[in-house]
Amino acid sequence: MAKTVLVTGGAGYIGSHTVLQLLIGEFRVVVVDNLDNASDVAIERVAELAGERGRNLEFHQIDLRDKPALEKLFASKSNFDAVIHFAGLKAVGESVQKPLMYYNNNITGTITLLEVMSAHGCKKLVFSSSATVYGWPKEVPCTEEFPICAMNPYGRTKLFIEEICRDIHRSDPEWKIILLRYFNPVGAHPSGYIGEDPRGIPNNLMPFVQQVAVGRRPALTVYGTDYSTKDGTGVRDYIHVVDLSDGHIAALNKLSDAKIGCEVYNLGTGKGTSVLEMVAAFDKASGKKIPLVMAGRRPGDAEIVYASTEKAECELHWKAKYGIDEMCRDQWNWASKNPWGYGSPDSSN
Ligand code: NAD
Ligand code: UD1
Repeated sequence: MAKTVLVTGGAGYIGSHTVLQLLIGEFRVVVVDNLDNASDVAIERVAELAGERGRNLEFHQIDLRDKPALEKLFASKSNFDAVIHFAGLKAVGESVQKPLMYYNNNITGTITLLEVMSAHGCKKLVFSSSATVYGWPKEVPCTEEFPICAMNPYGRTKLFIEEICRDIHRSDPEWKIILLRYFNPVGAHPSGYIGEDPRGIPNNLMPFVQQVAVGRRPALTVYGTDYSTKDGTGVRDYIHVVDLSDGHIAALNKLSDAKIGCEVYNLGTGKGTSVLEMVAAFDKASGKKIPLVMAGRRPGDAEIVYASTEKAECELHWKAKYGIDEMCRDQWNWASKNPWGYGSPDSSN
């Protein structure tokens, strides 16, 4: 029998790509998303890309904090084999302006989900954590044993949820939980049919670059040129979203391991790339020259962050396959085919 996985936030950027990989991997998938930062077009396109297997996808527009709706969904299914929990708000700057909104959405949403899962005897979870919990690391690569900290309310929601998961597992060892710390997801499905479509002004590097390339914004502001790095700009571990999605399938498989408790894994490539290197790779992939404005550092930014990938390689038997050239190729393929994302010039800003 095919396994059924509940995916919260499955209409979003990483969620939609993971749902597609799950369907291709012959899982049945139920998506819950309130469409706060996503479009139902993404779900339609995932179903199309999955072909015949698109029939194994179900979508419910539900907010995770709506406990009765979640209860009803769980009661209507014989059971979910596991839950992959992506749903959450993720804009760092907004989280500083509106901390309560972030705590309410991310923490209350997660607690409600965990309560309903527990009540229905579903105790297998994969959670989207972030490399943000490493803060400004004292050294690189970041291993899972590094001390964790948070620099802003968004980061604190990740840190708190990780701790909540560890407490739940301590109280009831039947829980099997994998906390995945993502580094910097970029790129899109190679079809160019699904990709990242942020609302408003993008906070992250590649969505911004993409919008400059299609003429929606005049130039990229490079935040910081005086870091102790090869060219003075910040260094990050960019990972292709399809590789990241495959990491979730590896994590799901690991949840069947009788010995697993509550475990953390980095999902990155282990390679550091500077802002200017990334822009150069995008210029090459797109045949465009992204105009740059050099500026001061962005508050809260770290200098160099990249992952140690050893633990995921050894224990999840997963390793990223793609490099920055493929990431930029697929990012541009998506952007050029969908300059306004899933919307139109009127629906975007
Ligand atoms: P996204 O915004 O594209 O996807 C999140 C989805 O969750 C959206 O579709 C949104 O509508 C939905 N959602 C939010 N609150 C909800 C609620 N209360 N109930 C139901 N649905 C809700 O973001 P993403 O980039 O796909 O990120 C997915 C997860 O990975 C998030 O938890 C994010 O914090 C984490 N993460 C992302 C990155 C990144 O760079 N993209 C890095 C590290 C961690
Ligand atoms: C940011 C968040 C982090 C979150 C991560 C993934 C901050 C302070 N940190 O991290 O919490 O987990 O996104 O969602 O927001 N850059 C530019 N110009 C831009 C945008 C970015 O030069 O317009 C630079 C940044 O300074 C950085 C690099 O590009 O050196 C990557 O930035 P970004 O994509 O925002 O990711 P992080 O900084 O890793």
